[in-house]
Amino acid sequence: MRKFKVGIVGCGTIGTALAKALTKGLSSRAKLVGVCEKVPEKAEALFEKIGRKLPLLSVEALVKKCDYVIEAAHPKVAPRVARLALKNNKYVLIMSVGGLLGFSFQRLIDKTSGRLYCPSGAIAGIDALLAAQVEGLRRVRLVTTKPPQALQGAPYFKTHEFPPFKGKTGKALVFRGSALEASRAFPQNINVAAILSLAGLGPKRTEVEIWATKSSKVNSHEVIIEGDFGEIRTMTQNYPSPQNPKTSYLAILSAIATLRKAFTTLRLGT
Ligand SMILES: NC(=O)c1ccc[n+]([C@@H]2O[C@H](COP(=O)([O-])OP(=O)(O)OC[C@H]3O[C@@H](n4cnc5c(N)ncnc54)[C@H](O)[C@@H]3O)[C@@H](O)[C@H]2O)c1
Repeated sequence: MRKFKVGIVGCGTIGTALAKALTKGLSSRAKLVGVCEKVPEKAEALFEKIGRKLPLLSVEALVKKCDYVIEAAHPKVAPRVARLALKNNKYVLIMSVGGLLGFSFQRLIDKTSGRLYCPSGAIAGIDALLAAQVEGLRRVRLVTTKPPQALQGAPYFKTHEFPPFKGKTGKALVFRGSALEASRAFPQNINVAAILSLAGLGPKRTEVEIWATKSSKVNSHEVIIEGDFGEIRTMTQNYPSPQNPKTSYLAILSAIATLRKAFTTLRLGT
């Protein structure tokens, strides 16, 4: 049975969780062979958590060494990792999906025998959206509500004030625009808008609202899809990862499930 040689770019919350999954539940089908990380202490912390030291490599060296590369670092890194992996006919899983918007991968995708995986992340409905997209898809909307700390540090606030919380609901509309605009304004906070747009109507036609609320500790995502098939509404209420309030725990589980799907024969869902 084939064992995939896997490398991880980014040894933070997601990278470390995936490294643990690769060395435990997925170890019969995969072997973690190296990492790439700009902060060496983060790589050391990962090695300690999995109980094994691994080579710390450049992105180029890691791609060469692996069959399957995972990007869990930063939207700025994502296009480079995706391009390098596909050029070298490797499989690649991108977590910072927002970083892929605005770049065309079509020519590379047409030529490569590699594969590009973008997990559903912290939303439900990508499977049905892919089916709806086959014919007669008209509108895709994402309404995200997060506690203010989950939006902290976004480039959007360099040019915009945080809006005041209103009334009894304690909610504030922070942003309304396309998935492309959302990914640029909140690159670390709204990867779900990017995956939704890639699966549906594209980054310019996918509508996004971001609300902040003081009253909730969860990140919630409502997805509304309209087309010839009818209408879909999905709602996820996500607990943040204890290590990083910007990252939902479901996004980590979704990445592990995507790896499992890539490594095994059985593929359920669309
Ligand atoms: N697709 C989704 O649903 C989803 C969900 C949550 C997070 N994300 C994205 O996944 C990525 C990782 O999230 P996280 O919670 O693990 O973040 P994190 O901050 O905990 O970890 C990121 C790690 O990447 C490292 N890094 C940054 N730039 C690097 C570079 N150029 N080269 C090598 N290493 C680099 C950092 O030092 C850090 O250790 C982020 O971009 C985040 O926006 C995606």
